[in-house]
Amino acid sequence: MLTFEGVTKSFGTVRAVDNLTLSVPGGQIFGFLGPNGAGKTTSVKLAVGLLLPDSGRVSIGDHDVAREPERSKSLIGYVPDRAFLYPKLTGREHLRFLAAVYQLPGPREERVQKWLDLMQLSEAADSPCDSYSHGMRNKLAWAGALIHDPQVLFLDEPTEGLDPSSARLVKDLLRLLKDRGRTVFLCTHIMELAQALCDRVGIIAKGKLLAEGSLAQLRAMSVAGASSLEDVFLELTGSHPAELSGIVEALVGGDRSERPV
Ligand SMILES: Nc1ncnc2c1ncn2[C@@H]1O[C@H](COP(=O)(O)OP(=O)(O)O)[C@@H](O)[C@H]1O
Ligand SMILES: [Mg+2]
Repeated sequence: MLTFEGVTKSFGTVRAVDNLTLSVPGGQIFGFLGPNGAGKTTSVKLAVGLLLPDSGRVSIGDHDVAREPERSKSLIGYVPDRAFLYPKLTGREHLRFLAAVYQLPGPREERVQKWLDLMQLSEAADSPCDSYSHGMRNKLAWAGALIHDPQVLFLDEPTEGLDPSSARLVKDLLRLLKDRGRTVFLCTHIMELAQALCDRVGIIAKGKLLAEGSLAQLRAMSVAGASSLEDVFLELTGSHPAELSGIVEALVGGDRSERPV
């Protein structure tokens, strides 16, 4: 349903995505894991057509995202890491606008109201988005991404900054989408989320895909016999011990007497 074929994207001298080849079959939740700056957001922007690759191609179903942007965009939903909302539109107007962009068949008003109710936004539906809290903005972004019932949903760090009930809603929605045979590409650095929801995961660092497979396959790849996804992630990306000691160093400013045990 989603394929990256030898996709490379650089910003100046930084290779944000380096020869990425990956396919996600329909009906799966795919977890895309990597430390900050690994290239996750850039990969998603390439897949949703916000960036064009320097080389390689991304396809949604049989459609090349660069060559058939409208066709491929009609099949996807996208919840970015920072929700983009027009500040002066109300939540209801935002969803009406998207329903029009996607040329949804009627009755649109009912569909808009259904998503406002589902996301517990009915009370704020007629207030402008710039009065919304972070969690409300995020829920509206979800509603906008799902209103046209997309085949593939791209989520960039979807539970970041959400309260527990919104985070729970996100998890429930993901399970629901999977039950409906939809495909989800989920970028996260939260291992529990990946472990709880994903059929398969890919681990990316410095633009390169380091490993890809089911959770069981990834565990089997671990040379140290890691039992959790977190251990496999840390082993493959090799980031944790150095980063942590650097943070401790900075926190205690070299004063070893205050170093936490
Ligand atoms: N628009 C941009 N201009 C310049 N560099 C960028 C831009 N977007 C991303 N990068 C760089 O590309 C690399 C990958 O970034 P990103 O895809 O945002 O990583 P992640 O989402 O995994 O944290 C980083 O080194 C980042 O600084
Ligand atoms: Mg990112």
